[in-house]
Amino acid sequence: MQSLLDQFAAALGKQYVLTDQRDKAPYLTDWRKRYTGKALAVLLPKTTDEVSHIVKLCAASNVAIVPQGGHTGFCGGATPDSSGQQIILNLKRMNQIREIDVANQTITLEAGCILQTIQESAAAQDFLFPLSLGAEGSCMIGGNLATNAGGTNVLRYGNTRDLCLGLEVVTAQGEIWNGMKGLRKDNTGYDLRDLFIGSEGTLGIITAAVMKLYPLPISQWTTLVATKDIASTIALLNLFQKRATSLLTGFEMMTQESLALNEKHFPQMANPLPGHPPLTVLIELSDHESEEHVRKLLETVLEEAFSANLINDAIIASNLSQANAFWQMREHITLAQAEEGANLKHDITIPLSLLDTFIQETDALIRASYPGVRIINFGHLGDGNLHYNIAPPPGSDPNSFNLANEKAIHELVYAQVERCQGSISAEHGVGQLKLDGLRAHKGAVAHDLMKTLKRALDPQNILNPHKVVSI
Ligand code: FAD
Ligand code: MLT
Ligand code: ZN
Repeated sequence: MQSLLDQFAAALGKQYVLTDQRDKAPYLTDWRKRYTGKALAVLLPKTTDEVSHIVKLCAASNVAIVPQGGHTGFCGGATPDSSGQQIILNLKRMNQIREIDVANQTITLEAGCILQTIQESAAAQDFLFPLSLGAEGSCMIGGNLATNAGGTNVLRYGNTRDLCLGLEVVTAQGEIWNGMKGLRKDNTGYDLRDLFIGSEGTLGIITAAVMKLYPLPISQWTTLVATKDIASTIALLNLFQKRATSLLTGFEMMTQESLALNEKHFPQMANPLPGHPPLTVLIELSDHESEEHVRKLLETVLEEAFSANLINDAIIASNLSQANAFWQMREHITLAQAEEGANLKHDITIPLSLLDTFIQETDALIRASYPGVRIINFGHLGDGNLHYNIAPPPGSDPNSFNLANEKAIHELVYAQVERCQGSISAEHGVGQLKLDGLRAHKGAVAHDLMKTLKRALDPQNILNPHKVVSI
């Protein structure tokens, strides 16, 4: 392998080929600390040509490549296996914003751009880049595209896929596909762009993208409301959808148990609504008209919701910093879970019409079989996306609890998801975490088609093997 490492060094410069164990360590363990792998080297290319060159070298030597962005993914997709024979290709040095096209309302950027930097660069030119998620300070647009990330603005602006117009991709053979047209219509055969989006680095390496921009809203109002149950929360969502239509940009649900965990680890993040309501909902309206217009609309809908007995309490954020505090509370749940120790995550979608049934039935089954567990259930309710997570009973050791119960709990939750015609991965992807269950979930025909695509695009199986689909 030494000659291959020398070739990498000749292609990138020696300092961008990390082989020392201490240098590689930060790239080897995922954010949840669930997976740790080994790598022959961590490579840090700066240009698309360098990526292409590296892929050609790997293909010639049959060395597998694990693409990596911010390494914040939840499914172990960016973590190598334990063989020590794979290389990690981390794209963080490819962080240039190539262009903001004001007339076309697009931003052209390299895969290693950090999401928050993109949002800030867009805002500096009076544009909104709507993708928003808790990891935005470290995740990268290449990773967002590769996982088709969702987040908190999907209700109004869609997933990452919906925000993308063009891609540049290095194929498994090291060829560069330039699909960087910023077009909103282009029906010229198969949609290659959409094939690479969400493929988690298994079909190609995304090196750049053209993304949509939107006018920056001039007014935004955020409220926290207390609801008694899921049925009334869905009725509340429907009411807001009807009255506020496209002004509704956020609708996030948090259970009492989720916020209790938050408060335990981050007391400053306590729920400002009194009395620990069963459900707390964060609602955001955004508009391009005056502050007063949106505020009045929000108050009118809340009054209607009170009269219809859909909500018991509400606080409207009086300024931006209070609105930010509401969002911080919501986003700290993930961090509180991480502080609490290993936990079982289920990132699922259920049709809204079956969500109440799903939660009632699944909660009951879980509580009957695992007395004392905490159901850390929160998420993007407006999209039917729940983070239905299970924390062990207070005081018990998370690792031994998970070891004993993980398989059975996953099976129970996923069987319920199937019954309700939902998805076992709403927004986090498959990676290595959900590889085994995918065939049963997708069905044999869909799964075989995925394998056919993988074989066609990556016959040597060098791009992120044994992630998403094994061939
Ligand atoms: P990585 O973790 O580095 O990689 C993810 C996958 O994409 C891997 O399979 C990797 O091989 C592949 N990949 C990375 N870059 C490329 C590339 N350039 N070309 C091809 N393949 C590539 N996700 C959501 O959807 N919604 C949320 O609300 C959300 N909230 C989060 C909150 C926190 C606190 C954390 C830690 C994570 C959250 N996530 C969320 C998960 C994660 O942030 C997203 O999946 C994100 O899109 C991953 O981006 P990344 O740059 O970190 O990718
Ligand atoms: C979120 O919505 O905060 C996340 O996707 C994170 C999680 O599932 O913990
Ligand atoms: Zn989420």
